[in-house]
Amino acid sequence: MIPENTAVIGLRYGDEGKGKIVDILSGYHFDYVVRYQGGHNAGHTVQVGERTYKLHLLPSGILRPHKKCVLGNGMVIDPKALVAEIDDLGIDVYRRLYISDCATMIMPWHSAKENRDSGHYGPGGVGSTGRGIGPAYEDKAGRRAFKMWELDVMRENGFDKFCLRVWQEAEKFYRPLPARKWHLEIENFLAAARKIIPYICDTRRLLNEKYSQGKILFEGAQGHMLDIDHGTYPFVTSSNPTVGGICTGTGLPPKAIKNVLGVVKAYDTRVGNGPFPTEDTGPAGQYLLKVGREQGTTTGRDRRCGWFDGVQAHEAVMINGVDALAVMKLDVLTGLPEVKICIGYERNGHSLHHPPADPDELARCKPVYDSVPGWTENITEVRRYDDLPGSAQKLLWWLGNRSHAPVKLVSVGPERSQVILNPNAKHVFPWMEDMLQMAES
Ligand code: IMP
Repeated sequence: MIPENTAVIGLRYGDEGKGKIVDILSGYHFDYVVRYQGGHNAGHTVQVGERTYKLHLLPSGILRPHKKCVLGNGMVIDPKALVAEIDDLGIDVYRRLYISDCATMIMPWHSAKENRDSGHYGPGGVGSTGRGIGPAYEDKAGRRAFKMWELDVMRENGFDKFCLRVWQEAEKFYRPLPARKWHLEIENFLAAARKIIPYICDTRRLLNEKYSQGKILFEGAQGHMLDIDHGTYPFVTSSNPTVGGICTGTGLPPKAIKNVLGVVKAYDTRVGNGPFPTEDTGPAGQYLLKVGREQGTTTGRDRRCGWFDGVQAHEAVMINGVDALAVMKLDVLTGLPEVKICIGYERNGHSLHHPPADPDELARCKPVYDSVPGWTENITEVRRYDDLPGSAQKLLWWLGNRSHAPVKLVSVGPERSQVILNPNAKHVFPWMEDMLQMAES
């Protein structure tokens, strides 16, 4: 059975472990790994043998030789961050990295603007990653953004025109500051922008020419609850990590997306501010933080930890048309006396089965939990579903049942090989049955 174009989408607040799943799947049949939204606010950690890779802009497929990686038009890209990431990786990406000519650039003043407006974005506000993502998308919607095509040296006086516009805009933003404070920053930015020129192309055409071969993997960044339209607005990122973002963020038609794999952790985490009804600030939450090493890949901030929220997961499965789930970090729960799962909310004496839109209302919802007894067996070496402790299997059943999507994959450690297929979900993505052997390599 041959797979077809597949979307890997985080269903929670980001940091679900999409990077590992994309890394495994891209080692199999897929030729193109495509990011369609966000920027270097994302942080995907992938462990290969002894080495841990932290990726922010480059799709996780970049770790597989010969796989082609696309940064789609829906992304906001900081040329300096991209050049630094390519240099740090130490892998030759030339001829397999394609940057959309319609992607938006993050300019040097975007993160400065974000910090300046910190009442809105920063600690007391959304609690953003500080990478200039919001201001870059604001400029895009305001029709004044810098686009990658402006770097096209084939245009009349292409790069010179670009530089002139950058200096003019910088002058407006930085005017009160002495030149020595910002001139070097702009020069460094322009040098980085020049370096990425060879990678810029018409990715919409490229992907449209290829999609009928069924070898495209879409890598979501952030997650459903951070989506600007479907998340806990205003505590969201400024793009659409949800499935609809793929069409607008790549230029592909909906029929190009055949499969949707939703990624969740066996518990929940959230970085930054905003409602989180199942947050546990007690010993269990501390345990998840410590054992799960829940620090943000991008900012290093501690993640807030809590229990799996089946109400929100169901909503995310519905909106993204999720076919099956990958449940990550099941091993982190080992050693807890009890594992809870939220099966509904209670608000003013009423039961709620859908999350309210108002974030204050959501914050006031009281989760209704079911629970399974904890287990103490080390499950990191388990490779057969039936060898998991009975309690862990029961939890996975609940997770699928509440989310309304079958659990297909279970991850029990950071390594590529630490994944288990659920034999009760053979009917979805049957091609994954052969895939696991490839994952070991
Ligand atoms: P921004 O995307 O930097 O504007 O941040 C907006 C919100 O999304 C903040 O609460 C961030 O902590 C959160 N966020 C952004 N990117 C990620 C991510 O990759 N993982 C988890 N949270 C994220």
